[in-house]
Amino acid sequence: MNEKQMVGEKAVEYIKDGMVVGLGTGSTAYYTITKLGELVRNGFNIKGIPTSEQTAALAVEQGITLVDFKDVNQIDVAIDGADEFDADLNLIKGGGGALLREKIIANAASIFIVIADSSKGAKKLGAFPLPVEIVTFGADMTTKKIAELGCEPKLRLTGNQPFITDNGNYILDCDFKHIESPKEMELQLNKIPGVVENGLFVNMADRLITIENGELVEKTK
Ligand code: A5P
Repeated sequence: MNEKQMVGEKAVEYIKDGMVVGLGTGSTAYYTITKLGELVRNGFNIKGIPTSEQTAALAVEQGITLVDFKDVNQIDVAIDGADEFDADLNLIKGGGGALLREKIIANAASIFIVIADSSKGAKKLGAFPLPVEIVTFGADMTTKKIAELGCEPKLRLTGNQPFITDNGNYILDCDFKHIESPKEMELQLNKIPGVVENGLFVNMADRLITIENGELVEKTK
């Protein structure tokens, strides 16, 4: 079993019958969703809130009932991957372009569990270019303002066309090399008009499930 599958399936142990579950996006969350699907087909009763259209399609294919925010009072547990995590369980997310919905769902969840293979650990965040979602209007100006914070922003492309998020926005991948203060950077970025949200998830993760020396390990704050 590969590391993504190990951590993705381990997280399912935190899901109890009747829960509302935030369903993450990406190749690690894939294993959580397919495992949940298996349980659902065996009579397990959960409802899912997806963090992307891609995840919604996978969940439906797996037989998981989807609900909307208007249908539920709370999300019990959200499970999602990460592009980087540090020792304080701060994260960079958004490699798959779903960071806005991921942040809304992680923030709404009583418990947010991060699943990440061993390659995702970092002493300091920022080697992975930080995804920032921006509105298309004024994108060149927003890009300049973001660059002034000390990075090289690159418009994410699909082929030679801009990548468009599920919310109709662009993603800038911002190479900071390292981010001294994730909290400060998160706030600075979100103060720029045109920025919708950025992929720094600071103080949000309750539990990290990862791999060290080939073994599953769990960390909490
Ligand atoms: C999606 O936008 C991301 O935040 C993913 O959760 C993150 O990129 C991790 O993806 P993988 O599990 O595919 O590595």
